[in-house]
Amino acid sequence: MEHKQLDQFPKDFLWGSASAAYQVEGAWQEDGKGVSVWDEFVRIPGKTFKGTNGDVAVDHYHRYKEDVALMKEQGLKAYRFSVAWTRILPNGRGEINQAGLQFYIDLVDELLKNQIEPVLTLYHWDLPQALQDEYQGWESRKIVEDFTNYATVLFDAFRGKVKYWVSLNEQNVFISHGYLMASHPPAVSDPKRMYQANHNANLANASVIKKFHEMSMPGGIGPSFAYSPNYTLNSDPKNVLAAEDSEDLNAHFWMDVYLFGNYPIAALKILKEQGIAPTIEAGDEELLAAGKPDFLGINYYQTNTVVFNPLDGVGLGKMNTTGEKGSSEESGLPGVFKRVENPFVERTNWDWEIDPEGLRIGLRRITSRYRIPVLITENGLGEYDKLTVEKEIHDDYRIDYLKGHVHAIREAITDGVEVLGYCTWSYTDLLSWLNGYQKRYGFVYVEQDENQNGSLNRYKKDSFYWYQKVIQENGSNS
Ligand code: BG6
Repeated sequence: MEHKQLDQFPKDFLWGSASAAYQVEGAWQEDGKGVSVWDEFVRIPGKTFKGTNGDVAVDHYHRYKEDVALMKEQGLKAYRFSVAWTRILPNGRGEINQAGLQFYIDLVDELLKNQIEPVLTLYHWDLPQALQDEYQGWESRKIVEDFTNYATVLFDAFRGKVKYWVSLNEQNVFISHGYLMASHPPAVSDPKRMYQANHNANLANASVIKKFHEMSMPGGIGPSFAYSPNYTLNSDPKNVLAAEDSEDLNAHFWMDVYLFGNYPIAALKILKEQGIAPTIEAGDEELLAAGKPDFLGINYYQTNTVVFNPLDGVGLGKMNTTGEKGSSEESGLPGVFKRVENPFVERTNWDWEIDPEGLRIGLRRITSRYRIPVLITENGLGEYDKLTVEKEIHDDYRIDYLKGHVHAIREAITDGVEVLGYCTWSYTDLLSWLNGYQKRYGFVYVEQDENQNGSLNRYKKDSFYWYQKVIQENGSNS
């Protein structure tokens, strides 16, 4: 629908930006930090683009004050970051490592001193290696207790200071990459193990949310889901059904569990038929129902257009992790759907479809189905950037991208969606897990090439100033 006039963004709208510990901090062996599964994985030859790793990343651990000063200058209202579990509990459980905790105490204090709302993510993929070695991490139910105890340390440490908490970042991504595509640790390719690990992650997620509420923590908590709303290519009923199946298997399969406490019926039934459904034990459904989030975090990058895929059709294909446009492989689930190019939208050099309207569509779907406020915890454009001799970065393509998405959010708000805030991905440039340092997302350029050489100096991109203005105007011209 087209509105005659758009509503304003709420006065306390959280104009923010985001990062994740492994992608920015570096200092991988400092102050008693333990080893995470990513610290190990990046050392296996061929796993990441040009063997890049987060040993130094963009050195945020040592430069956080400079980074927060830039946020302050820009006028940022919120900063989303994640805590590295291995800094707090180096072996995943046991004694608290005070020096590691202190880093986050200092960061949070620095943010609060500058009137920037901290949004704390408990888990952004850097599982303690010790727990992987001991009981295979997410594949064991033991993770539920350990994750809850780790979260409780942070709840105690930041009660009242941190009001927005994200439980798991993109469970759908770390589980499918880790246990199906084998492109993230522990590099397994087994759907049965994937669905069980995913079920355990659901229990862990519900358990920390339940704990947060039992502790009467001020503020709210929710998971961040990587939502790519599904479209049908056309009105062929076969393709319409394929898009519905894709929405069930790729989206409701997580969001329904978070918000309704159970799996979508048709999706679970097909997994049972194939013998790959998770084992649901007595008490699981009660726990899932008891862990209802206060808001839903959404990471939105693109939509997913599909057609029907016959039983002998295409299977999993490789993603483009090189930045060579058009190099992604065809990908699908035989008997259900396969992804096709949407002829109506442009693509990035990494073949991600650029679709601001899709964000509005996704927000609308969430609101209709779940009636829950949404915090957009990630959205942004990964592209090559060029530092000029004048040390400027003219990223008008990123401004266009973000502008379109901010406008789509405003339209969604006018439709009646409750959006708490918008955290772009990312604040500074940072390590892309599989795409190295050449794929950049930040408002702040970090001088470092894809071979990990450079001064690590920070430079403000044109998009930095653009967002500064949007924040000043509270989006009124968006
Ligand atoms: C999200 C993650 O999947 O997308 C981030 O939460 C990630 O950690 C971002 O960096 C962009 O993905 P990529 O692959 O382009 O780095």
